Amino acid sequence: MESVGRDGARGGAGTVKRVCIVGASGKLGRHMVRHALDRGHEVVGVCRQQSVGKLAEFEGRITVLPGATDDRAVIARAVEGCDAVLTVLAPWGMDHYASGTAQAVLDHARPGARLVFSCGWHITHDGKDVYPLRLKAFVALFGRLAKLARVVDLDDQVEACRRIFASDSRWTVVRGSDLEEGESQGLPVWSRHVGDPVLASNLTRRVDFALFMVEALERDELVREAPAIVGRLTPSALAHASAERAA
Ligand SMILES: NC(=O)c1ccc[n+]([C@@H]2O[C@H](COP(=O)([O-])OP(=O)(O)OC[C@H]3O[C@@H](n4cnc5c(N)ncnc54)[C@H](OP(=O)(O)O)[C@@H]3O)[C@@H](O)[C@H]2O)c1
Repeated sequence: MESVGRDGARGGAGTVKRVCIVGASGKLGRHMVRHALDRGHEVVGVCRQQSVGKLAEFEGRITVLPGATDDRAVIARAVEGCDAVLTVLAPWGMDHYASGTAQAVLDHARPGARLVFSCGWHITHDGKDVYPLRLKAFVALFGRLAKLARVVDLDDQVEACRRIFASDSRWTVVRGSDLEEGESQGLPVWSRHVGDPVLASNLTRRVDFALFMVEALERDELVREAPAIVGRLTPSALAHASAERAA
């Protein structure tokens, strides 16, 4: 285990947990590390060897295990003793990276561990999502071109989620809208189905996507749910909140 260190600091809101973050060096991953540390969790991060330097800001505060996130041996070591695993599901390449990552986490996390995975709105849990035409066209076109170029395999991210949905673990699959950078606006709001009016704005700050992933660890109502999220200050979320207040 390569160490960027770990000080075992405890404290902060909620129950302190030992949390593994798979894909810790990416944009979403690093936001999740910050939120997890803010809450006093102990963090073990997994990232590719060439990306370890991207976690330098956390030196001394987290443990880093370098390796491909679909490397079963790496994941087995990383999740050992963890109460929770936050996984960035990334459909890179044509070697079943996303499904291999998900399967490794499902197989090696301890029974009863809280498992939270990230993906996009294009994933459907129960087939009842109603997608905007623009999103359907983008996924169809981008998916086909990316697969032809052998860069990204969206079908494998679908397969990864199919396996998660079929598992009897304590999973949550957080489905992100379009993302933007910027200061946190607070915890995103969520709904079961894309097409629900509250989600119409289709925009979330990346920092808040990560916040929702970490918050999900404390929310039992999200177990075996696939929440689709949107920023809480977006027009559709604000309109929904004021309609609820009026009702
Ligand atoms: N981007 C969007 O607009 C969007 C929208 C909705 C949902 N999402 C979801 O959000 C999550 C991550 O999104 P993000 O845009 O914020 O990306 P990100 O945090 O940068 O994460 C990408 C992950 O993929 C890894 N990666 C990059 N290139 C790779 C390669 N060639 N082979 C293997 N791994 C590679 C990165 O690791 P390194 O640090 O090692 O490069 C990182 O862990 C995904 O689950 C995605 O489905 C994204």
